[in-house]
Amino acid sequence: AHQWRGVIEEYRDRLPVSTDTPVVTLGEGGTPLVAAQWLSEQTRCEVWLKVEGNNPTGSFKDRGMTLAISLAAQAGDKAVVCASTGNTSASAAAYAVRAGMLPLVLIPAGRIAKGKLAQAIVHGAKLVSIDGGFDDCLRIVRELGKNYPVALVNSVNPVRLEGQKTAAFEVCDALGDAPDLHVLPVGNAGNIAAYWKGYQEYAKDKVSSRAPRMWGFQAEGAAPIVRGAIVERPETKATAIRVGNPASWTLAEAARDESGGLIEAVSDDQILSAQRELAAREGVFVEPASAAGVAGLLAAREAGTLDGGQTVVITVTGHGLKDIDTALSSALPVESPVTPADTDEVARVAGLV
Ligand code: F0G
Repeated sequence: AHQWRGVIEEYRDRLPVSTDTPVVTLGEGGTPLVAAQWLSEQTRCEVWLKVEGNNPTGSFKDRGMTLAISLAAQAGDKAVVCASTGNTSASAAAYAVRAGMLPLVLIPAGRIAKGKLAQAIVHGAKLVSIDGGFDDCLRIVRELGKNYPVALVNSVNPVRLEGQKTAAFEVCDALGDAPDLHVLPVGNAGNIAAYWKGYQEYAKDKVSSRAPRMWGFQAEGAAPIVRGAIVERPETKATAIRVGNPASWTLAEAARDESGGLIEAVSDDQILSAQRELAAREGVFVEPASAAGVAGLLAAREAGTLDGGQTVVITVTGHGLKDIDTALSSALPVESPVTPADTDEVARVAGLV
């Protein structure tokens, strides 16, 4: 019987590993490409969702982390450090302890979703809550990595992007070619760069016939690339992408320009509405940031800037259970009175009679 072996073994010949590299894996990657029926009807395109919430710690970060931690283990590192809006810290914690290393994570105090906080805690990370935003955390971990015996596993570490590019390989392998258009959220801007790298490699080696246009979406209150300037106090309910000075800014612009794509902003209302529609119509529950791509595609359809008939892949980056507080607070108020344990009563309350 075949079992998916994780992205390093599945794509070993395209990754910077050797036979000496100890592979630290939780079986990441191999995530489903789900046909999106409602979105396809809405857009008159063939829309697919790359559901990255199905990764071991519930986000796409695991693809890069298996590589970063494996190479840190090979180098003999004893501790790793990262800054995070939540998902990177959850992933770093899980993979680090699996390799017997100490994970140290810096997070913006009070601004990460509870599910992600729980993950860092249960995996045993040394957690430091910073009085500041993600950008402050990133600045500090860069300095820690330079001056102390800890390996930096943020996406400024280029091996993270090497691991994350495998998602583009999987899309091409599943569809038989690259899509016309790839849509995804943009925060610290590593993932859009990673996908672009993966698509370009497959096109160059003629595994696929082309590379897609890349469409990235930032949250309106945290849209430095769209505005062309650092955002000092980024704000959005999509906390995962609350980033004012993305580390991979230049790489993201290159992905946009070389692919003939775009990077635009969507509002929190558009993001939360897309999150609800995705859950209620497609059966796919994602965290708020993960819905930014869906929101962007729907906005483009609305504005008449999306041609029909295209094959479109949207990466939904993280699982909805990461952040149930935002989901519940943005849901329509649901009255759920306590009902007597009586079948006829239940039938009445449920509106069956
Ligand atoms: N979606 C989710 C769920 C994320 O957690 C992130 C980034 C992104 C999208 C944006 O990806 O940064 O590569 O452009 N989260 C980082 C973190 C910042 O710390 O977990 P990006």
